[in-house]
This record gives sequence, C-alpha cells and structure tokens, in this order.
Amino acid sequence: MKKLNIGVIGVGGRGALARSAHLPSEGCRLAAGADVDKKSLEALREFAGKDVFTTNDYRRLLEVKDIDAVFIASPDFLHEEHCVASLEAGKAVYLEKPMAITIEGCDRILETAYNTGSKLFLGHNMRHFASILKMKEIIDSGIIGDVQACWCRHFIGYGGDAYFRDWHSERKNTTGLLLQKGAHDIDVIHWLMGAYTRSVVGMGMLSVYDKCERRPEGTPGSAKWDNTQYPPLTQKGFSPVIDIEDHNMIMMQLDNGSQASYVQCHYTPDSERNYTFIGTNGRIENVGDSGKCEIHVWTQRGERNSPDIVHHLKPIEGTHGGSDPAIVRTFLDFVRNGTSTNTSPVAARYSVAVGVMGHASMRTGCRLKTIPKLPDKLVEYFNNGQSQPRDTAPHGKMKVAPAIG
Ligand SMILES: NC(=O)c1ccc[n+]([C@@H]2O[C@H](COP(=O)([O-])OP(=O)(O)OC[C@H]3O[C@@H](n4cnc5c(N)ncnc54)[C@H](O)[C@@H]3O)[C@@H](O)[C@H]2O)c1
Repeated sequence: MKKLNIGVIGVGGRGALARSAHLPSEGCRLAAGADVDKKSLEALREFAGKDVFTTNDYRRLLEVKDIDAVFIASPDFLHEEHCVASLEAGKAVYLEKPMAITIEGCDRILETAYNTGSKLFLGHNMRHFASILKMKEIIDSGIIGDVQACWCRHFIGYGGDAYFRDWHSERKNTTGLLLQKGAHDIDVIHWLMGAYTRSVVGMGMLSVYDKCERRPEGTPGSAKWDNTQYPPLTQKGFSPVIDIEDHNMIMMQLDNGSQASYVQCHYTPDSERNYTFIGTNGRIENVGDSGKCEIHVWTQRGERNSPDIVHHLKPIEGTHGGSDPAIVRTFLDFVRNGTSTNTSPVAARYSVAVGVMGHASMRTGCRLKTIPKLPDKLVEYFNNGQSQPRDTAPHGKMKVAPAIG
C-alpha cells in the first residue's frame, strides 16, 4: 500500500477531522500542520508526535516535498487561496465545504485541478449520513415513483452559539449562511433529485440576532456551544458586525423539471434537517437526521402520522453520525487507489452557485437568478474521475451539466 504523508491547513476546529486519517499501521501519517493559532499546532503535535512539522504559514507546509495530501479546514473565505496553492504544489486535496464563497472561486479551483492533474476531493460528509443514503436508496428503488418535489426545513438551534460570534457573521467571509450551511443541503437535494438547479429565487432577513448584545470592537470572537442560551434574545457576546441573514428561504427550479425548496432558521429551539421528497407514487421524510432516526415512507393515501413503511436507523460511531470517519476513508482510497467517490467537485460547485445566487436574489428584491453553467471540459473531467486526458475537450464551451450519477 502506498504510504501517505498528510498535512492539515486550518488545524483547529474542523481540522480535527484529519485525525481520522492518522493511521500509521496503514501507512497514513499526519506529518504537518499549518495554522495561525499556536495552541492548535501544539495540540496536533501532542496527537501525532513531536516530529510533526508545524508552521503558521501554509506556504511553508506546501514546500514540504514528501507531503502527498492536505486537508483544508480553514475558514471559508480562505478555501480558494489555500486550495489553489495546494493543487499547484501537486498535493491531493480534501477541501471542506463550502468549496469557496464565490462561483468564480469555485471555478478557479476546478480549473486549477484540471490544469495540474492534482486530485481534488470535497468534504460533503452528508453524502455519508445513513439517513441520506437510506433516502437515496428508497428513491432509486422507484417505490415513490418519479420525484418531482423536495422541501427541506433546516432547524438550527445552535445558530447563535456558532455563526453570529466569529468570522461567519460577515458576508465578506461567507457570502451568507444560506451558502455556508445550505451548501450541504442543496448538494443533497441535487444528488437525490438527480439534477442541478437551473434558477433560484430567495427571500431572507436578519430579524433576531441583530438585537442581541455585541462584544466590544477589537475583541476576538469564538463559538460558544451551550444549550442554556435560550431564548435567543438573551444571548450576548455577538460579533460587532453582523450583515448576514438569520432566516433564509430559497426555491429552486431543477434542470430535470423538478422543483425544490430549502428554508433555514438559526434561532429555533431544536435542531434537525428535515427533508421530504415527493414522487408520483409516494413520499418519504426523515425524522432525525443522524444517530437514531427514522425514514417514513407513504405509498398510499392516508394519515401523515401513519406511514406505510418505517425504516429504523441505528446510531453509527463517529462524529456527524459516523459520516466523518467514512468520508476520510473514502478520501484515502481515492488518493491511493483512484477509487470512485460519491462526492463530486462539480456538485460542490453547483451547491455554492445556488447559495451565491440565492443570496443575490434575496438581496435584490427576490429576483429569479440563473445559475451559470460550468464548461463541458470541467464537467467531463470530474465526472470521469479526474483521470481522462485533459486536452480532449474544447476549452470554454458551455453546456448544461448532466444529471448527477
Ligand atoms: N463538513 C462539516 O460537517 C463541517 C463542520 C464544521 C466546519 N466545516 C467547515 O470547516 C471549515 C472550518 O470551520 P471551523 O468551524 O472549524 O472554523 P474555526 O474558525 O473554528 O477553525 C478554523 C481554523 O483555521 C485556522 N486558520 C484561520 N486562518 C488561517 C490561516 N490563514 N492559515 C491557516 N489556518 C488558519 C484557525 O486558527 C482555526 O484553527 C469551514 O469551511 C466550515 O464550513 C465543515
């Protein structure tokens, strides 16, 4: 088995995911970390050993020749810079969602992967959630017929704990939370409905968290996870600048004629991603999105609380409902053996594009926005597992992206 030396850019917070890739007995080793926070680098050395190379400048990490792959878990606004530089340095990349905060940023990342041949993998771990995989399996079985409609309600009870206290709270760092959080769900909707969004219309507002007490200008912000912070207006210590919405709603017209809606609220008491997919012969809905959850299936007329079939899903070990270790394993297999993946850089780009355009719509009088298409050559390259000759497609020709396989 090929040995893999792995680096991490953005070691703190979500960067901990890379620890699942530290498998010395299998030839995979966390060998380097870059972070502007000293404590995060110390914690990495404690975890993976004193010989781990650490730096506060990610460019020094990329100069280390025997680093084969990097995890990028820095804040969203740095993804484009960090990913482009990593691909250009010849490293295989695990890039956290969202791919970038602009469509241009995503397309630059895809172009760079195409031009360099360096492998690119997107951390859309919801594609490894048991609840999502079960719903996909049910839809693909045909039992609910042709899926024509999807509604996703995203309850985020912890919105004030996390996103209104640090870098997330400003458009310049995230574009907005429709994109930041919704990138996951828009991707799931595209995947399960078998098509990308063609046009989107959005409506959103900031109506609760703008009224909470702020911390003084110039003091550092950080998330504060605490279930006792309720009701929302009792919260304190929020960012001095909040220019993002705390309630987001979009409606999407997909390329295959189906339609979907996604609504997101950051001040609910509870938390869940609740999807329903409605087909010509029935409907499915998840109750719980990770851990112990159920998938309800209706195939006949009847009561909402009496589904015809209930699938009971058991908790799986590991963070984010077991999806984190599973997606890291998929990445390692992809880098070492070229094994195919269920995530897709093209799909990740389309989820960002819908987030960007949904925000653009809600900020400009709810106008319908068209999603720009990717050039054929990029769609073909990534749909073929990033291994086809890269000079076979005409450059710059645009066409509708095919339904997602
Ligand atoms: N897929 C998931 O389930 C999931 C979950 C959480 C976060 N994320 C993603 O992970 C990313 C990080 O989120 P987070 O919540 O951990 O943020 P965070 O702010 O808690 O952590 C980011 C880390 O990056 C470091 N950093 C900042 N600037 C840097 C720079 N210039 N160079 C190197 N390191 C730098 C910070 O010091 C910090 O350690 C985001 O893009 C987020 O969307 C994904």
